[in-house]
Amino acid sequence: MKHTDVKVILNDPSLVGRELTVCGWVRTARDSKNMAFLALNDGTTLGHLQIVIDKNAGVALPPEAAKLGAALKVIGTVAVNPNNGSAEIEAKEITVLGPSPEDYPLQKKFQKLETLREMPHIRVRTNTFNAVFRVRSIMAAAIHRYFQERGYVYVNTPLITASDCEGAGEMFKVTTIGYSDKYKNADEYYADDFFGKKAGLSVSGQLEGEGMAMAMGKIYTFGPSFRAEKSNTLRHVAEFWHVEPEIAFAELPDLIEIAEDMIKYIVRDYMEKCPEELKFFEERFEKGLTEKLLNVVNNDFAVVDYTDAIELLKKADVEFEYPVDWGCDLQSEHERYITEQIYKKPVFLINYPKAIKSFYMKQNPDGKTVAATDLLVPGVGEIIGGSEREADYGKLVAAMKEKGMTMDEYRDYLDLRKFGSCPHAGFGLGFERIIMYCTGMSNIRDVIFYPRTVGNIR
Ligand code: 4AD
Repeated sequence: MKHTDVKVILNDPSLVGRELTVCGWVRTARDSKNMAFLALNDGTTLGHLQIVIDKNAGVALPPEAAKLGAALKVIGTVAVNPNNGSAEIEAKEITVLGPSPEDYPLQKKFQKLETLREMPHIRVRTNTFNAVFRVRSIMAAAIHRYFQERGYVYVNTPLITASDCEGAGEMFKVTTIGYSDKYKNADEYYADDFFGKKAGLSVSGQLEGEGMAMAMGKIYTFGPSFRAEKSNTLRHVAEFWHVEPEIAFAELPDLIEIAEDMIKYIVRDYMEKCPEELKFFEERFEKGLTEKLLNVVNNDFAVVDYTDAIELLKKADVEFEYPVDWGCDLQSEHERYITEQIYKKPVFLINYPKAIKSFYMKQNPDGKTVAATDLLVPGVGEIIGGSEREADYGKLVAAMKEKGMTMDEYRDYLDLRKFGSCPHAGFGLGFERIIMYCTGMSNIRDVIFYPRTVGNIR
């Protein structure tokens, strides 16, 4: 169906006077005896295109066309609205492509985000979600561009796997056998299952990504990760999109440099490409958002040792719900205090106690900490988790044994330390978390199309 995008019509003054076809859904409708005005949106922009229907001039308005949510095709001439100077269409012919009865759920101008969450397929027709999903698309493209321009190879790592990357036991099981009392024990059950062994949905592409980095030098993945965490928080979903670069011949400081550079690149790109959306988020969701993001692109991030952060938290004049001591896993309240109250900008926390971090992280010479980093940002907390990897076979095996892991599941991974092992490092960026940070949306459920959380799927 040949038609012109609303975005093009609203932004190209040379179209004034031209007759063209436009398609879209009715956002508002005013109908009187002589004239009718429809606001049409086709999703290409947050702006609506006004359709003017002059009934005295003999233009027919089908009754179903003036209904919210109806899909229309309009043929008309581009004119300039004398009141606000923006482009509008003087309609000649209106066709209803799809009517929208009275039970169309978006009858009210503003609806609560909670209400909209109950209808993910319809909420995308609101300006809020139009803006969120355009930003997602622009930022995904920026991430690919960032890595592609720098010679990284895009890799698709398996989604079904037999090894648990984070070793945290948060994997969804993949099985073709339903409930059954046929088996005497788990081993028998898995032996009879599709893969002949226990399998699950990957929590991270890192382990396989490391294998690729050991061949291609610099790689990145960008795909879904799955976590069966039962935490019902504003920043966890069971299915999230994960960006995971892995770099051979890199150590922790190199990794920090790359992560900061990438974040600045994608934020700058978003600010350049989405001024309309940014303004919308600033007005509706986070006052000071633009200023915050300008600070991100124009200033250095802080780098703070975990041990120093603990001291700062202990000195803080705040009653934390969870007590702080060296060795503790930082809670969201601690992370947010560090980045929001102390540094007021993104902070790389480095050198965490090895007991609270994953088996694969490079053990520091102090014997207590690992060369890991989390990037914490105001408002959201952790958006990146990464580390230099333990490249020494013996040390890696020892760490795995300490954590009670089954070596057999990690044979490929261990091989990487046997054949041409080298210093290497990588990180994982939670795509939804950076979208939250850049849009000011405070609930992760509002930056992903169909959020999957504990007890909630459709
Ligand atoms: O810190 P995480 O668990 O690190 C890893 O998975 C490493 N294997 C990454 C690597 O080094 N290649 O997760 C990385 C990031 C977190 O910082 C967070 O942004 C995001 O993934 N993330 C989640 N996002 C939404 N919902 C969840 N349940 C998430 N779990 C992690």
